[in-house]
Amino acid sequence: MQYNTDNQGRRGFLVRATQALSALIGGALGIPAFVYLFTPAKSHSTGGWVDAGDISQLKLNAPEELPFRRVRMDGWKIITEKSTAWVVRLSEKEVVAYTPQCTHLGCAYHWEESKGQFLCPCHTSNFSIDGKVLNGPAPRPLDRYLVKVDGTRLLIGPEQSKTKGA
Ligand code: FES
Repeated sequence: MQYNTDNQGRRGFLVRATQALSALIGGALGIPAFVYLFTPAKSHSTGGWVDAGDISQLKLNAPEELPFRRVRMDGWKIITEKSTAWVVRLSEKEVVAYTPQCTHLGCAYHWEESKGQFLCPCHTSNFSIDGKVLNGPAPRPLDRYLVKVDGTRLLIGPEQSKTKGA
């Protein structure tokens, strides 16, 4: 008789321990799954402004390629991307920043000092210093970033709409 009572007590303890462990595992797996399934994904872009550096030494009509880092969110991942912009001081008050890809097929172009033009090596498109197409096959002017000048610092924003042109 004593044996059965001990046995039932032990069995009851094991059943309760198994149930408690199952509940613990279910919670550990269920809560992250619930959060994943029922909370909205974050925006794909922070859309923020990035400090691209000091432009106090930037000479008039002398384009420089400035590197900068942009942070964006893709779902639950935070991605840091390195990018560049061709920055030109067109006048004392006007600074523009072009995206670094040619508007034909996206090759990296460069500033050709001797010609005073941006040249794309892939299919020989040329662009003027203000981004206009001088020689195709590029179908539109260079794309631009939104820019702000804060003192001597250049802030680069999102890319302007490709339909607006230069
Ligand atoms: S990619 Fe620049 S001209 Fe074709």
